[in-house]
Amino acid sequence: MSGFNPWVTPLNNVVTETTPTNWKIEYEYFDCNGDTLACLLYTLFQENWHQVGLGHIEQGSVLELEFNEAPKKCVLYDGYLTVIAGEWHFHLCIEETFGGLESETPVELRKQRLITKAAFYRRLNPEGIPKSWGVQFWNGAEQQAMTIFLPNPYVEDENLLPEGKANFDKLELYKQLRDIYVLGTKPIPFEKNPLKCAYIAVCTSGRCYPSRNWQPIFESLQSAVEKAGVDIDVRTTGCLQVCKLGPVVFNSNDKTWYTRVKPEVAERIVNEHLVEGNKVTEHIYPPVT
Ligand code: FES
Repeated sequence: MSGFNPWVTPLNNVVTETTPTNWKIEYEYFDCNGDTLACLLYTLFQENWHQVGLGHIEQGSVLELEFNEAPKKCVLYDGYLTVIAGEWHFHLCIEETFGGLESETPVELRKQRLITKAAFYRRLNPEGIPKSWGVQFWNGAEQQAMTIFLPNPYVEDENLLPEGKANFDKLELYKQLRDIYVLGTKPIPFEKNPLKCAYIAVCTSGRCYPSRNWQPIFESLQSAVEKAGVDIDVRTTGCLQVCKLGPVVFNSNDKTWYTRVKPEVAERIVNEHLVEGNKVTEHIYPPVT
């Protein structure tokens, strides 16, 4: 992708907050544009899922989730990163979100939803000793959004290690990521935004196609793409915000939605639209008049 910059410019912005129990939280803010966040989150959830946790911290409640296996999906659609981890999934708005074709997201809401502030943090006990490490995100309304928990030297298999037995090798991931994203002394290890590859996807949610018999459409897209030798990812996806006249298919290249897609229509979409550049007009949504 043109314009991708693998070097993060340091913000040199460190803020330390003192908690009511006299702990300190040291935040090191970093530039959180869409490309930077995509690279960081891809590194965390696709390459280091076994080392990290995520959740949400508020006074009186802490949510913590961990992965038991590699996430099944890590995709970007309409500004939201979606990570699917078997029984649970999450969404995080890392680029502007425009909403569905018939329900556009108001500008103010787009600003509120977007992650606009991010920091690597360390929590230090009253003696000034760091005890936990992570990444914190805030949305455009300055509300605390997701927290990512990085490996903790004092914890092994959810158990606190005896005093003096900490394994500081576990700070390696924190150090590596901090060098790249906070200090800018190492480049981002990608040549382009890893969440921005072109794809064609069929919706597997039930609202647009209650029988959910999307498999033949997916297979037809797959075999046509393979046969035509087109460089595009074929995916299944959650709701594509059309929610009727399914099966619904979406081409990310030029943001085209198709409805009532049978296997033979899927084949035409690949051969006529992706290969020849001519949209299959009778199936486009909204309908072409
Ligand atoms: S449920 Fe398929 S597009 Fe919304």
